Amino acid sequence: MITRPLLLVANWKMNLDVFESVERARLLAETWQSLDVNHHVQCVVCPSFDALTAVGDELQETSIVLGAQDIFWQDKGSYTGEVSGRMLTAAGCSYVIIGHSERRRHAHEDDAMINMKVHAALRAGLTPILCVGETYDERAAGLSDRTVARQVIEGLQGISLSEASQIVVAYEPLWVIGTGHAIEPGDAVHASHIIEQALIDLFPSDTIAQHMRIIYGGSVDEKNIMHYIKLPLLTGSLVGTASLYPDRFIRIIRALL
Ligand code: PGA
Repeated sequence: MITRPLLLVANWKMNLDVFESVERARLLAETWQSLDVNHHVQCVVCPSFDALTAVGDELQETSIVLGAQDIFWQDKGSYTGEVSGRMLTAAGCSYVIIGHSERRRHAHEDDAMINMKVHAALRAGLTPILCVGETYDERAAGLSDRTVARQVIEGLQGISLSEASQIVVAYEPLWVIGTGHAIEPGDAVHASHIIEQALIDLFPSDTIAQHMRIIYGGSVDEKNIMHYIKLPLLTGSLVGTASLYPDRFIRIIRALL
């Protein structure tokens, strides 16, 4: 779809407080400086909201960029507890994860809400990482393709052609997230084609091929990362559990060089 660099996104979820986040970011930054990664890998670290600024400070001498794990769809106002796109850019973010399955499940986010969040991210100049993927039950019922296609099409409704060039779609089958068992590479290829077909319903194929990205997430680690990176259409990965351990995450980066 796109040539290089590969996109490697670390999703720390709600696992680390600000002190733990800074410690890990510091270790990552120190190692990053000693690796010749710049032309091979674009790395995005997504800590929790409270740690964004402090982690950004640790990463500022590196080419690693900051991402948030969520965004609200309004830009400003009386929305207690929410965080806007402008707040995220002010905190130093350039990416934001949207529609992660854990938010779809625990915060009951639906495709319409997720679509509003994608628009809000683009208004703020952030690159949205739209997460899509089927549940175990949907897979068992033979509904995987339909679910994934619907999430892409509804999540990206109303996005203009110029905005489309920023978008990343992460295929994350829910039934492997956090299990330690990633899917078969062939299944990732199949899902990538479904996502590409859904994108073709919305955008010209040369925009998709040259600018948009499809990445895979779900129990990616230092041992299996190469299975997913070499697949056609996939140009990166979203890593949860393995990204929490600097030594493991660094081994993932090294595997990509
Ligand atoms: P995992 O999480 O790597 O722990 O499966 C991935 C994700 O949920 O983004």
